[in-house]
Parts: sequence; structure tokens; C-alpha cells
Amino acid sequence: MRPIEIAKKIYDVGVNDWNIEDFHGYSTPLGTSYNAFLILDEKVTLVDAVKKEFGDQLIDNISKIIDPAKIDYVISNHTEMDHSGGLARVMHRIGEDKPLFCSKMGAKNLAKHFERPMNYRPVTNGEQLNIGSRTLTFLETRMVHWPDSMFTYVNEDKILFSSDGFGQHYAGFEKFDDVIGDEVMVHAQKYFANILMLYGPLILKLVNKVVEMGLEIDMICPDHGVLWRKDPMKIVNAYAQWSQQVPKRKAVVVYDTMWHSTERMADAVAEGLNAEGIAVRPMYLRKWHRSDIMTDVLDAKAVVVGSPTLNNNLFPTVSDFLTYMKGLKPLNKIGAAFGSYGWSGEAPKMITKELEAMNFQIVDPVRHQYVPKSSDLESSFELGRTIGRMINEQVPDESSGG
Ligand code: FEO
Repeated sequence: MRPIEIAKKIYDVGVNDWNIEDFHGYSTPLGTSYNAFLILDEKVTLVDAVKKEFGDQLIDNISKIIDPAKIDYVISNHTEMDHSGGLARVMHRIGEDKPLFCSKMGAKNLAKHFERPMNYRPVTNGEQLNIGSRTLTFLETRMVHWPDSMFTYVNEDKILFSSDGFGQHYAGFEKFDDVIGDEVMVHAQKYFANILMLYGPLILKLVNKVVEMGLEIDMICPDHGVLWRKDPMKIVNAYAQWSQQVPKRKAVVVYDTMWHSTERMADAVAEGLNAEGIAVRPMYLRKWHRSDIMTDVLDAKAVVVGSPTLNNNLFPTVSDFLTYMKGLKPLNKIGAAFGSYGWSGEAPKMITKELEAMNFQIVDPVRHQYVPKSSDLESSFELGRTIGRMINEQVPDESSGG
């Protein structure tokens, strides 16, 4: 990707990673981008780097604007290697004694990633750095996404460099929200659900703090995906909703199956939910990636999980999904289990235990031995209806303005 001037003398010099399909367990069919920003001022400043494999492309992009050796300052908003991996290459090219500004935790963490010492300049929350005609303000944003994370705000241009915050795993030439349109929200929701959902309470505090500070924001520039310039508050407001996991009248039915029996039960549970007016789609774990399912879990009120019993245990894809979901700490959900079995039938009980550990409101499980007959499927249908009624009681109807 060639550099883009995003504001006067401020460039996105990052790269598109078109081919990545799996970002540490998160499916990225459209790839992602590692955005990095170059500010031309009395002190030429680079905000963030890229993944190690793209270090040369970053240098090449910078070279299209200025000799990289002329960079005076580097800012690392976050240590994770998709942003810091290329730092060693950058520092080697521009001069290893150049100051590298980061949070205090960032200095500790970066030192644990690189062989050679760098000229770390730890900054505190609210600290400012004058780079000539501009002043940068550093804002500590712990756990968005790591303990070392911070944002960098350009006071004069009202631009917020937000690192992972407000990002999306999306590679494309549409670099701004007004170019890509509403599709960006789908990618942003998936990103939040899979990367930030567990830090919801901290993010809510941060969003409230930014609103209280009255920080004027003309553009939000995350390190992944599209930049927000048309309506930056749209994504800030979405984060306020998502961080509270405000539910819709929606359920997720997720399952795997060996001989289609648990599949038939999943369909019947979904039918029951649909009969109560709940938005639902049965999600087969060998069709849907765990990260796509979690995107739906984010704003669903119920998660109903089905597994056959295999060797006295859960089916492996179901274990994988439950482990993944547990780590992301879903809040305020209704949960239930179902499944077909041959002779022992432990799986629904094991799922229920996992859902209890996630503090779900539990509805009794349903199970059937071998192949459920049409009449047997009524209990799965009724499970769906029961959960549907609970959702309708607990979630205000958006169409009535409640
Ligand atoms: Fe994009 Fe937490 O790194």
C-alpha cells in the first residue's frame, strides 16, 4: 500500500496484509492491515510500526516521503508484535539512539521482546511532547489491548492514534469509514468481540473518561483497518454499547454433530426460539469459525450449546468453542445445553457446568439417546421456546422504543 496523506503532513505509511487468514485464532478472511503514521514537523515522528515481516515495506513507504534517517522520534503505543515486530528494523535504519516513546509498562515489555536495548522514553498519562508546530498528548489505556497500551492524541489536528482500539481486521484500499460505508461496523464488531470483549468494563470507563475530558476528535486512527473521519463518535458510541454487552432479542445455537442427531436437535431449538420471535441461526462448528460465532454472542441474550457425547466427553470442537468463549468473559447470558448420545451421555452435563462457570443463567439441558424421533424433538423445540420467553421478558423490545 502506498502512503496516504490523512491530514496535512500526516501520512499512513502502514501496510496491508492481504493473505493472513488466522490472526492468533481469529479468522481474517479479508486479511488485515498494520497501520503506522508519519508526522512531518520540526521533529519528524513515526507512530507505531508493523509486523516484522513487513518491516522493509514500512521503510519503503517512509522513503517515498522522507529519508527514514530524518525521523527524530518513534512512538510505540502498544507492544504486541503486530505493531512492534518491525521496530528493530526501523530503529536500525533510523539510528538506534533515537528516542522511543512508550508507556512505562511498554518500556518493560518492549525490553522483553528485543535482544538489543533501545532508547526507551517512558511517558505518563497526560504527558505531552512538543514536536514543533504540534503537541502530542499520551493517554494511558491499559488493557486496550495489553497492560502497556496507550493512545497518542495530536492536539492541533484533533487526531487520536488509538492503537488496537476501534480497529478492525480488514485489508482494503477503502481506508476511511466514509469510503467503505456501514460494512465497517461488521468488521469492528467482530474485532471487539474477539479481542476486547473481556475488557469491556475497563473500556467503558475509558470511553466515559474521554467523553468527560471533552476531547475534540476529528479523526480516530487505529492500527488496524479503516480510519474514522466521517463520524468518529459512531465507533466510540458502539464501544460504549458493546462494552456493556447490551443484548438484543437474539440467541446463538452452536453445536457439532456426529450422525446428524444433535444437528436435528439444534434445528428444533432454533425453531422454538424463532417461534417466540427471537433472531437466531443454528451455527455448526465445522461451518462457522469460533470468531464469527463470538461476534454473534456479543449482542445475543442466550447461547445454547449442543454436543454429542464422544468417549464420555465433549466433542472436541465444542470444547474448543467453550474454552474460547470462557476466556472472552461473556456477561449476562442465558445458557442451556443439548445433545444426542449413545450409551453414557455426559456432554450436556459437562456443557452446563462450563456455562455455570461463566455465570450464565442456566436452563435445564435436553438429551436424547441415539436418533431422536419427530416426537422426541418436541423437547428441543420447547427448550427453544422457554429460552425465547425468558429473552422476551428480560430484553426490552427495540421496536416499541423500550
Ligand atoms: Fe494489534 Fe494487540 O495488537
